[in-house]
Amino acid sequence: MNLARRTMNNPAFALVYERAWRPAAFFLATGRTMRADRHDAARTLRLRPGSRVLDVACGPGNITGYLSTRLAGDGYAVGIDFSGPMLRQARVDNSGPRVGYVRGDARRLPFADGTFDAVCCFGALYLIPDPLVAAREMIRVLAPGGRIAISTSHRDDTWFGAVSTLVGGAGGLRVFDIDTFPDLFERSGLTEIRQEVHGLLQYVSATRPAR
Ligand SMILES: C[S@@+](CC[C@H](N)C(=O)[O-])C[C@H]1O[C@@H](n2cnc3c(N)ncnc32)[C@H](O)[C@@H]1O
Repeated sequence: MNLARRTMNNPAFALVYERAWRPAAFFLATGRTMRADRHDAARTLRLRPGSRVLDVACGPGNITGYLSTRLAGDGYAVGIDFSGPMLRQARVDNSGPRVGYVRGDARRLPFADGTFDAVCCFGALYLIPDPLVAAREMIRVLAPGGRIAISTSHRDDTWFGAVSTLVGGAGGLRVFDIDTFPDLFERSGLTEIRQEVHGLLQYVSATRPAR
């Protein structure tokens, strides 16, 4: 197991992730606050009160819990992650009437095709050993007319990007070409593909066309 995976399975890291690590590290990497990321996630996913939402590699539920507060009626958010400590923290910090957490592997999502109206994966594809397998799984479980949104790394040619790639690579983090996810989404038949770059992260969203 590489350093990044060991870190995600450490209870102490799970405890400080939402409180300190996520706000500081992501602000340094992207210039964005967690509040902005959460707000944009709900907007990009076009959540409606009754949406069924899947947050892949949800960590301690820092995005999942927020998305669930935007739902009503039959709306429900599920967070899935393989780290037991992260999920225990999610249940402590981000529980609610419309959210639940499941332990599982992003590369084999335990859901039927087309189960969710919105599927997201933020700040995690660079940690997953077969990230394109995980991305295809996300598309598989997305319902026709549903929305997908990811944020992940991209190759950045600045000195900061080069240093981050080196340091991250040593710890087991992957860096993607800027075209990798837009191309995958297009080949998978998704439409309305939008990509934004904020510092070291790319944010990509798309729609699965209604049948
Ligand atoms: C940095 S956290 C991201 C948490 C949250 N999505 C966010 O935006 O802050 C990355 C998470 O990915 C999870 N993860 C890594 N590989 C995974 C896999 N194959 N299946 C499920 N979760 C995985 C880790 O356990 C960790 O909780």
